[in-house]
Order: sequence, then C-alpha cells, then structure tokens
Amino acid sequence: MNPHLTSDELGLLVDPTEAEFRSLSQLVYDHFGIHLTDKKKALVRGRLNKVLKTRGLKTFSQYLDTVRSDPTGLALIELVDRISTNHTFFFREADHFHFLRDVALNELRSETEIRIWCAGCATGEEAYTLAMVAQDWAERTGYRGSLRILATDISLTALETAVAGRYNSDRVRLVPQDFKRKYLEGLGEDLWTVSPALRSLILFRRLNFMDQDFPFRQQFHSVFCRNVMIYFDRETKEALVQKICRHLAPGKYFFIGHSESLGRTSSDLEYVQPSLYRKGAP
Ligand SMILES: C[S@@+](CC[C@H](N)C(=O)[O-])C[C@H]1O[C@@H](n2cnc3c(N)ncnc32)[C@H](O)[C@@H]1O
Repeated sequence: MNPHLTSDELGLLVDPTEAEFRSLSQLVYDHFGIHLTDKKKALVRGRLNKVLKTRGLKTFSQYLDTVRSDPTGLALIELVDRISTNHTFFFREADHFHFLRDVALNELRSETEIRIWCAGCATGEEAYTLAMVAQDWAERTGYRGSLRILATDISLTALETAVAGRYNSDRVRLVPQDFKRKYLEGLGEDLWTVSPALRSLILFRRLNFMDQDFPFRQQFHSVFCRNVMIYFDRETKEALVQKICRHLAPGKYFFIGHSESLGRTSSDLEYVQPSLYRKGAP
C-alpha cells in the first residue's frame, strides 16, 4: 500500500464526531421531524459521505455550516433526500386496498368527487396503486363523479421518479394481471410505465409534514400515511396525526403502515382494525 495516499484516495469514509452527529440529528429533527437515533449513524455516514465528497468537504462540521448558510434551502433538501428512506412498491400491504375497494369507496357513491391523499408517497407506487383501485372500482360500479388523488412527499428526487412513472418489474410484481394489462404499458427491457389515464388522476406535490398547517381547501375522504411515522418520535407523530385529522372528513378513513400504531385513544380517530382508523362524526 502506498503510505502517501490520502484517506480520500483510499476511499475511506469521513466519520462524524459525537458532537457533529448530535448537531446533524438536531437539524434534521427541527426541519423534518425525523429522529436519527445512534443506530442510524452508520447509514447517515454512508449516505452523506457522497455529498461531502461532491462538495469537496473534509468534515461534517464543514458540511453542517454549508447547509445552515445556504440561503436557497437546496442543501437542506439534498440532506433530507439522502437520509430519508423511500422504499415502496405497488400493492404494498394489499389488504388496505381491498378495504378501500370493498368498504371506503362504496360509502362514497353519492359524492360528486372523491378525494384521496397519499401522504408520504415516495416514488409514487402507492399513489398509482390507489389510482388503479379507484379507477377500476369506478368502472365496475358506474361511478360518474371525479376521482382525485393528491400525492405528497418531502423528497424531490423521489417525486421526480413518481412523476416520470417508470418502474422495474420488481416494483410492479404484485400488480394483478388484469390491472397490469389495463393500466401499465411495457417499455421492454424490464421497464413499465403508467397509463396516461391513471396519471391524470394524480397530482404530485412537495410537502413537509413539519409545516404549521397544510394548504388544502377541502377535506379528504381517505388518507394513506403509511410507513412514514416510523421515523418520528411520539410527540412529532401525535402532532402530525392531529394536523392530518383536520383535513380528513368526518367518518372517513386514515390508513397507516402495518408495523405502525397510533394508540387506541389518540386524537379524534377511532380504531377500526390494525393500521386502520376512522375519524369520528362531528
Ligand atoms: C418508506 S416511504 C413510504 C412510502 C409509502 N407510503 C409506502 O408505504 O410504501 C417514507 C416517505 O416519507 C417521506 N418523509 C419523511 N419525512 C417527511 C416529512 N417531514 N415530510 C414529508 N414526507 C416525509 C420520505 O421522503 C419517504 O418518501
């Protein structure tokens, strides 16, 4: 081994000191509500080293200074893009979509418009799944109103993928065959794209759950906020659930991830079954 090679040339990773990791965690918590425990240290180090390298920075202190002093806020967006986990796929936790089809949508037959919020949509698979299920339900039941799906996330790179709407086979593996035929087009080379009809039902937008309030004029008939709150501590989670509830119509449904729970007494939500809640009537 050449003793004169620098750590950079050796490809070694820069380690955050204890103090640097604490400052970084605080920054991420203050802006995004994401709780970075010590267990996440290796993951954070791995993901952020690439950013340090690209920016020509030698320490995490330098990196923190860059993020804090960036007036455009883009460095902060890049930070959350790197540390948030966007893993998702079509028809994930499929029983929720069965409930949507068999119960929630049927209760909305007399509405002229059905509004669903996919909160924390990552790269879009969940929103397109909702669109498939709702569109198929509308075709089968003769529903004549309009279907509208708002899909939001904090990560711009995830949203870019969502808008592009192109996915590899492993992401669409659980899409039923008839849905695949109706709503996806094969692009060859293991790539699928979503039909224009389905895209037209969805609006993708950037939204930070830590914002004071959300700019929605009308309430939603279902909110899917799944596998998002696992990153939040109890306080952040409760505050978010309260905020989301304000935008959910009375008697309507709130879906969370299968490994998540809200506690049976929290907010104005009634427990329906594991990972499913309903807002009480006013
Ligand atoms: C694991 S994905 C969940 C995707 C999908 N809901 C599912 O269940 O498959 C979690 C998403 O939450 C988003 N997220 C994390 N913190 C957020 C925040 N403060 N505001 C908005 N979105 C956030 C991440 O960017 C990520 O895309």
